[in-house]
Amino acid sequence: MNYPVEQWTTELRYKKYQEWPASYVAALKEDVETAPWRLNYHIQPETGLLNDPNGFSYFNGKWHLFYQAYPFGPVHGVKSWAHLTSTDLIHWQKDEVSLLPDSSLDSHGVYSGSALTVGDELFIMYTGNVRDKRWQRQSIQAGAWLTKENELKKIPQALISQPPAGYTAEFRDPQVFAYGEGYLMLIGAQDTRLQGQVVVYESSDLLTWHYRGALHYTEEQMGFMVECPNLVEVDGQPVMLFCPQGLDKKILEYETIYPNTYVIGAALNMDTIRLEQPTPLQNLDDGFDVYATQALKAPDGRALAVSWVGLPEIDYPSFTDGWAHCLSLVKELRIKEGHLYQYPVVETKELRHNERHFKGKLANQTKLISKTSQSFELELNISRQQRGKLRLLADPAKESYLEISFNTFSGKIEIDRTNAGQPFAEDYGTVRQSLIPENEDLTFNIFVDQSICEIFINKGLKVCTLRFFPAEDQKNLLILSEEGLTYEGKLWDLNTLPSE
Ligand code: FRU
Repeated sequence: MNYPVEQWTTELRYKKYQEWPASYVAALKEDVETAPWRLNYHIQPETGLLNDPNGFSYFNGKWHLFYQAYPFGPVHGVKSWAHLTSTDLIHWQKDEVSLLPDSSLDSHGVYSGSALTVGDELFIMYTGNVRDKRWQRQSIQAGAWLTKENELKKIPQALISQPPAGYTAEFRDPQVFAYGEGYLMLIGAQDTRLQGQVVVYESSDLLTWHYRGALHYTEEQMGFMVECPNLVEVDGQPVMLFCPQGLDKKILEYETIYPNTYVIGAALNMDTIRLEQPTPLQNLDDGFDVYATQALKAPDGRALAVSWVGLPEIDYPSFTDGWAHCLSLVKELRIKEGHLYQYPVVETKELRHNERHFKGKLANQTKLISKTSQSFELELNISRQQRGKLRLLADPAKESYLEISFNTFSGKIEIDRTNAGQPFAEDYGTVRQSLIPENEDLTFNIFVDQSICEIFINKGLKVCTLRFFPAEDQKNLLILSEEGLTYEGKLWDLNTLPSE
């Protein structure tokens, strides 16, 4: 079966879930199971498309993570929330209880949102996407409760039936959190001047919400729309993660279609509705494909984040096999010396096996460090004042590889996916740069999983995440330098997990 993107007319994408024949779904599932580039230890859709992480929470003794799903093809159709649970943040089980687009409040999609444990139940808040007969969008903020018995009960009435005066129907992705004696909610919005905003609502009972105003969290104009706002406390400071669309590149340099950005504040002041003393806007990820990151202040005190690894409006090679996109590893957020760090949760180490140590000294040459599988973790240490290149997943002819260049004099790291496999998204450039301080030692922790690579530089000071689509024979790990280079590191195979 082939799934050309053009076949996906609007009518087909909005066909009701129950109208899809079981035989179609079974055939798609079989195709996807045998498709190349399927992942071993990352969350991926069983069929069709995955986008934003939603409702990341700890409830009833388990981690819960939902994601935006369109199960019938690799396109943005009528969305639902797929549901996963885990006891360790690395092994995820599919849960049959999910949020489907089956009510008048969400007939054209259960869009993104969040979850909060309240008493004995999990409160879920999401955007119901509804289209009227003239295909005009209505954005309704709706809710649901998940009980300890794993019963999902949608709240029958809209919690916020329409945007406040001065805002358009681009109004979605509620993040709800406890604040003082009550609750706050942030929503991504577009005002009628067509500027991106984040608005704040307040409630004492989660059912009646009062509009407080637009949140002030930057002096700059945040493009034409802000998606997926997410405020999380990290080491005592509020960090705002969000996705401005159409952001002026004079405000922040970025090369992806839409960046996932953040500011760190000193405090949230709800008298003035301000995030006090926000830092300048920064890219959350210096790679290619991160979007819609959702973060959670976990009961154990950690700030945890998970990202959609994929971007809207870009075609990826796996589309032809009937599936699209994945989620990142779960990352712990920290603030150290004013910098936001992101690093896979410590539990990720449990995936490691078959540890190998290596070290070497190069003259002007290329060396094979090791043969690898296509699912591994590499830790590489390079002391300051050296330059070189790492080629991951090189084919036997050494023509295809993912290249990471490093220069510790200037602190410049370059990730080049130009020849990493099947090309895609070339309009947005195939090289990215990440900067660390000059003349410092360098450590890479690189997590490769078939068609995703997450590169953590200096234990998470910078992160570069990307998809790439290699051939099966791309399994050589090379290091090269045009001058002298000493290096040492470790390599692990990472245990595979059942998909989903
Ligand atoms: C971000 C987004 C959200 C929306 C969801 C729909 O990727 O566009 O704003 O709620 O995806 O799937």
